[in-house]
Amino acid sequence: AELLNEVENFNADNQEQIEAFRIKILGSKGVLKDLFADFKIVPNEQKKEVGQLINELKEKAQEKINELKSNLITTNDKVDDIDLSRPGYPTPLGSRHPISLVRKEIIDIFSRIGFTVSEGPEIEDDWHNFSALNFPPEHPARDMQDTFFVKSDDKEMALRTHTSSVQVRIMENSKPPIRTLSPGRVYRNEAISARAHCFFHQVEGLYIAEKVSFADLKQTLLYFAKEMFGEKTEIRLRPSYFPFTEPSAEMDVSCSVCNSKGCNVCKYTGFLEILGCGMVDPSVLENCGIDSKKYSGFAFGMGVERIAMLKYKVNDLRLYSEGDIRFLEQFKSAF
Ligand code: PHE
Repeated sequence: AELLNEVENFNADNQEQIEAFRIKILGSKGVLKDLFADFKIVPNEQKKEVGQLINELKEKAQEKINELKSNLITTNDKVDDIDLSRPGYPTPLGSRHPISLVRKEIIDIFSRIGFTVSEGPEIEDDWHNFSALNFPPEHPARDMQDTFFVKSDDKEMALRTHTSSVQVRIMENSKPPIRTLSPGRVYRNEAISARAHCFFHQVEGLYIAEKVSFADLKQTLLYFAKEMFGEKTEIRLRPSYFPFTEPSAEMDVSCSVCNSKGCNVCKYTGFLEILGCGMVDPSVLENCGIDSKKYSGFAFGMGVERIAMLKYKVNDLRLYSEGDIRFLEQFKSAF
């Protein structure tokens, strides 16, 4: 009975006191434990009474502890007691997609030398994707880019195979000097593997003014390569063919990771192709209403995934579009 009284009158104003009380009464060496041990020697006829008392004590003690604990929580919740200097709960942050990161970097580099950004539709007509760019109807050059065709009511449309289509629109609608970049998603009918995908991202560039030369193209691209991959980067231009440029070239950059063991980017060839380029064919200028006797220009186009592969050493294209959090999270510190 005395103990019951003690339990009922117990009060505490902090967590430690409650815990000490709990240990004293209910703990493994507590009062109750002793009482239960003594229970064995209680004469049989008193067992019922004593048992009830012990149980009552146990219940009361538990109740008391619960009550004190919940009081403590409500008191702590008083506005005055909130510690405003405590650090907040962490907010989970996402990360930028590597393609967005690289796209932004390419645009930043060219915008420093005066290029603006232009965009256009992903579903294109034949004129803007092919014909204006010197791909004659039925010409085998069209097979260079396997195309997804889209049936529309009266016109055959296609998913654009490159963003050169945007450049046609710009040339048709503005006067030189033109200095513009067209970033965007493009589509090609290819089987998906580590090295090919049915869609990818491009940034194409176009510069048209008076007396633009191949030397301007080369210096612009060298500037880009050094900004993108570092001062030591070398470039290599190889002759190539595109219907809309003459002369045409493909540009390789020296592989920055090649000296380390197990280069999975260029496979020890030392260089990696990253873009196509050339002087805009005069007939393309004429197709778009630009006087080819007065103006000349260069164009280039690159795959963003390609650059990202080189920059982040990720050599499977599929990773860029699968949305796997384990992959994407690795770009948290990049911006
Ligand atoms: N449009 C070409 C492609 O998608 C790239 C390119 C652009 C080549 C401009 C030359 C000049 O492959």
